[in-house]
Amino acid sequence: MSATGKKRILSGMRPTGKLHLGHLVGALSNWKRLQETHACFFMIADWHALMSEYKNAAALREYITDNVIDWISCGIDPEKSVIFVQSQIPEHLELCMVFSCLTPLGWLERCPTYKEQLRELATREINTYAFLGYPVLQAADILLYRADVVPVGEDQLPHVELTREIAQRFQHVFGKEIFPQPQAELTKTSRLLGLDGRKMSKSYNNAIGLSDAPDLIKQKVMQMITDPQRIRRTDPGRPEICNVHSYYQAFAAPEIAAEIAQACRQAAIGCTDCKRRMGELLCSYLAPVQQRRAELLHNREKLDAILADGRARAQRVAAETMRDVRALAGI
Ligand code: TRP
Ligand code: SF4
Repeated sequence: MSATGKKRILSGMRPTGKLHLGHLVGALSNWKRLQETHACFFMIADWHALMSEYKNAAALREYITDNVIDWISCGIDPEKSVIFVQSQIPEHLELCMVFSCLTPLGWLERCPTYKEQLRELATREINTYAFLGYPVLQAADILLYRADVVPVGEDQLPHVELTREIAQRFQHVFGKEIFPQPQAELTKTSRLLGLDGRKMSKSYNNAIGLSDAPDLIKQKVMQMITDPQRIRRTDPGRPEICNVHSYYQAFAAPEIAAEIAQACRQAAIGCTDCKRRMGELLCSYLAPVQQRRAELLHNREKLDAILADGRARAQRVAAETMRDVRALAGI
């Protein structure tokens, strides 16, 4: 709980690439809503990015600022929320070290995301000491701010569960409860799929970037896969299985989405026109976001001031928690 009596939230993103529509419909729209009712800490998880991208670390710095610019352009308000960079607050690593002392290896080896990532990121050498400890650092991120709620995607649930177990173990070992039991809050919005119908991801090369130029956005939308059974223009379509229609649901007014669905079922609109219209719609949806992005890109001082303010606000809370931890851990 924060000083203002609001529940505390911490969430983070790894700065491993430019952001796309999936981030906007998934995490960012959720964060934007939550910042109205909660005391929010939104973190660039650059240590976590380094764990898998250490061989390509030169790109990290650029993604850190680029992602923060997109967060703010999408409506994360630096006055309401604390926006900060994990590696600028040394207490994350201190708390991680304390947690490392009391986290059994078996918990980490059994973690489903660990095994999955070792398989999925086969091209990266991540059979490392740090990568096994990925969830321990994430637990430190969350508990350092004594967060009550952690908005995450489904894939992160095992990490929030492990965080709760680490908090309990800390209490058991040191005999005092100084951490809340954080709850995961699942991102509700249905996940927006990529151009090819798979999960939207930079590595699948099927994403529409938040900073893509309008022409590129329109071109990408034209490549989208539609109802495969709709072969001729006169065949009625099935909007409920069409990815283009899910974009209407995400980005158009509900009446427009309903109108398109009906026209599709009656073969009153062709897929080419339907996609052309979606391309226009996405471009006008993103225009104000891209406008704010351009302003921030050219106002480096403003961005630096936002990050310095976030750092100071995060630092205060982190130092307070570490004082309590150090007292209990005898260091
Ligand atoms: N592991 C998260 C992801 O890949 C990023 C992250 C790091 C995070 N620390 C966090 C998310 C703390 C929530 C809370 O998406
Ligand atoms: Fe999809 Fe639109 Fe074609 Fe219907 S008309 S199948 S919603 S692209």
